[in-house]
Formats: sequence, C-alpha cells, structure tokens
Amino acid sequence: MRTGVWLVGGRGSVAVTTIVGAAGLRAGLAEPTGCVTELPQLRSSALPALADLVFGGHDQVSTPLLKRADELAEAGVLPARLVAALQPDLAAVESELRPAPRGHTQAATAAQTAADLADFRDRHGLARVIVVNLSSTEAAAVPHPAHTDADALAAALDGEGEVLPPSSLYAYAAFAAGCPYVDFTPSTGARLPALHELALRAGVPYGGHDGKTGETLVKSVLAPMFAQRNLAVRSWSGTNLLGGGDGANLARPDANAAKAASKQRVLAETLGYQPEGHTRIEYVADLGDFKAAWDLVTFRGFLGTPMRLEFTWHGCDSALAAPLVLDLARITAAAHAAGRSGPLPELAFFFKDPIGTVGHDLSGQFEVLRAFVAGLA
Ligand SMILES: NC(=O)c1ccc[n+]([C@@H]2O[C@H](COP(=O)([O-])OP(=O)(O)OC[C@H]3O[C@@H](n4cnc5c(N)ncnc54)[C@H](O)[C@@H]3O)[C@@H](O)[C@H]2O)c1
Repeated sequence: MRTGVWLVGGRGSVAVTTIVGAAGLRAGLAEPTGCVTELPQLRSSALPALADLVFGGHDQVSTPLLKRADELAEAGVLPARLVAALQPDLAAVESELRPAPRGHTQAATAAQTAADLADFRDRHGLARVIVVNLSSTEAAAVPHPAHTDADALAAALDGEGEVLPPSSLYAYAAFAAGCPYVDFTPSTGARLPALHELALRAGVPYGGHDGKTGETLVKSVLAPMFAQRNLAVRSWSGTNLLGGGDGANLARPDANAAKAASKQRVLAETLGYQPEGHTRIEYVADLGDFKAAWDLVTFRGFLGTPMRLEFTWHGCDSALAAPLVLDLARITAAAHAAGRSGPLPELAFFFKDPIGTVGHDLSGQFEVLRAFVAGLA
C-alpha cells in the first residue's frame, strides 16, 4: 500500500528530520526509536509499511533539502553520516517539493494546492496521500461568517481578501483532493465547522492539534498522578526556552499566544480546576532545535502540608516530533482505508490540544489508540 505523505512546511526542521528518518529506516541505516507504531502493542498489518511512504510537500522557502539536512546535522539533530549516505533519497524528495501556491484568490490558491496533491498521487500510483501540516504556527484565525458553512465558504474564497488562514486553506485543498489532513501545529487547520462538513462530504478523516513532544507530554503523565492521589495542585508554572525556526516564529506575540493556549488545556481538564501559573515561551537562538523547559509545581497534601516538584526537560524537538509524524501518517492512512471520515479523536495520544473528549491522561490515551489501531486490522 504505497502511501503519500505531503508535508506542508516541507523544508522545515521537523519535516526534514521526518524525511531523513524515513529514508534511513528504509535503507536499514536507522532504528525506529520514538515510532510508537513499531511497538508490539501497536504493530498492525493495517498500517502501511514505513518503507512504503512516499514524500512530497509545499514550502514558501526554497532552501535545498540537502542544505537543510546538512544544517540539522551541523546542529547535532541528525547524524552527518546518515545525511551523506542518503543523498540520492533526498534528491528524489527534493523533486517532489513544490513552492507554496499563491493564486489571485484563495479559491485559486486552493485549486493549485489540490492539483499538486492529485498530480503527486497519480504520478506515483499512491493509494492515498496524507497531508500533514508542519508549517510555522499562525496567529488564531480571524472569525468570518463563511467559517460555519461549506457552501458559503466556497463562495467567499472566490472573492478578495483572506477568508481562511493558510493552515485551513491547506485543509480545504486536501479535502477537495480527497486527502486526509493532520495538523501537527496549534494553527486553526481543519477546526472550523465548514471544513468539518467538507471532510465528511469528501469521506476523509482529519486529526490534530499540536504535537505533544516535551513539557506538555510530561504534564500529561504528572497531572493525572496528582489528580488520582487527590493532591491539591496550587500552582504550575513553566518556562520553555527554544531556538530554531519554530522558536523564532514563536517570538511573535500572536503565534506565541496560540501555542501557549494549546499548552494550557491539559491541566484544567485533568485536574478539574486551573491552578495558578502560566506557561511562557522564550526564543533563545543559540539553543537551535534543542529545548529546555523548567516547571515548578506547588501542591498541598494531607492537612494542607505544602510541597513542591520541579523538573527540567532537555529535548531535541525535531527528533521527538519526526517519529510521531510517521506514526500519524501511517495510522491516518489506515483509518482512511478502513472508511473513517471526519475527526479522529483516537489520536489524542499525539497531541497537546486534541480533538474530542478522550482526556489528557497519557496512559488512557495510549489505550484508546491501541484499541483503535487493533480495530483497523
Ligand atoms: N518540534 C516539535 O516538537 C513540535 C511540537 C509541536 C508542534 N510543532 C510545530 O510544528 C511546526 C514545525 O516546526 P519546525 O520546528 O519544523 O519549524 P520550522 O520553522 O523549522 O519549519 C516551518 C516551515 O514551514 C514553512 N512555512 C511557513 N508558512 C508556510 C506556508 N504558508 N506554506 C508552506 N510552508 C510554510 C517555513 O518556510 C518553514 O520551512 C511548527 O508550527 C511547530 O510549532 C513542533
């Protein structure tokens, strides 16, 4: 089952790590560490093989893929020897990367995007193409009356001005081309009633939002512990320091606000109340793709005794994210093949701000995912 994976933001750090990783796995030069679909509990004949994934994508910059891979190797994110050994594979993916379409209306941009997807699927004889949004985090979408109705949306896109933010226009184009869509970012993506309607009409599934790879991953393990022991969390404050393209983009207040909002859900929904404190995100260029998160939690126990927990997380964001992108592409492809359409709440395990009501407890989310994948076979 040859399956296309179309990466929006195909020249970004997460995308390039995903492309290099998939090629390394296919060549037998890398281990699937971090790929949860390679765990015995999730292995399934319903999933396309890692070696059957074919990559393409859109980006608004044209930096050669090999140059981006070399930069990531220089920064210690990718092994330099792996990048050198995979040059022919990277050249093949380079020829499948397209400039981000720009039409005279958003309808024209979407039509060009959908045409690129259909062309990719046809030329490679792919069973399906999964569109994964890995582009820069956007500001929250400006509300528009056409967001609630699919027909009104199609009419509005034909006019002037921006009706949809880019992430949602990619979702619109994906559905128009019959492709499932996964949003790894906190951007609006498919989270609009009109797009939900279009996904159902097209018979395609969608998933999101915002990959859970660091501080929020740890929170989704620790917060249920406090809740299950009936301990009272009084405050939870976190500071995230990161560099790279993502860090530079998140230095913009509007993108920073979208990301911080996405990180907030886990505590309120797990504990049943919102403790004092905030999550801060700060850009430190010198950290590159490596992130440091410091969290301080104050809590009360029996008879009000005050206690505290502190943790520090040092993660390489792209190395944590890329295997999840492969997992999401494989599972979403299997869900599409099994006839699922509309939202995939079963993918909550992967996201900070998941669709649906699966809850935020990581082990509970894993069990939902395991049962879902088993049911696809
Ligand atoms: N790395 C992680 O652990 C992690 C976790 C959760 C979410 N994310 C999100 O994943 C996304 C990618 O992260 P990254 O570190 O690769 O960022 P990056 O800055 O390295 O890459 C983003 C890419 O998107 C491209 N882009 C921007 N707007 C575009 C558009 N309209 N069309 C096509 N391409 C466009 C940029 O040119 C760039 O190449 C970010 O939104 C980030 O917040 C990452």
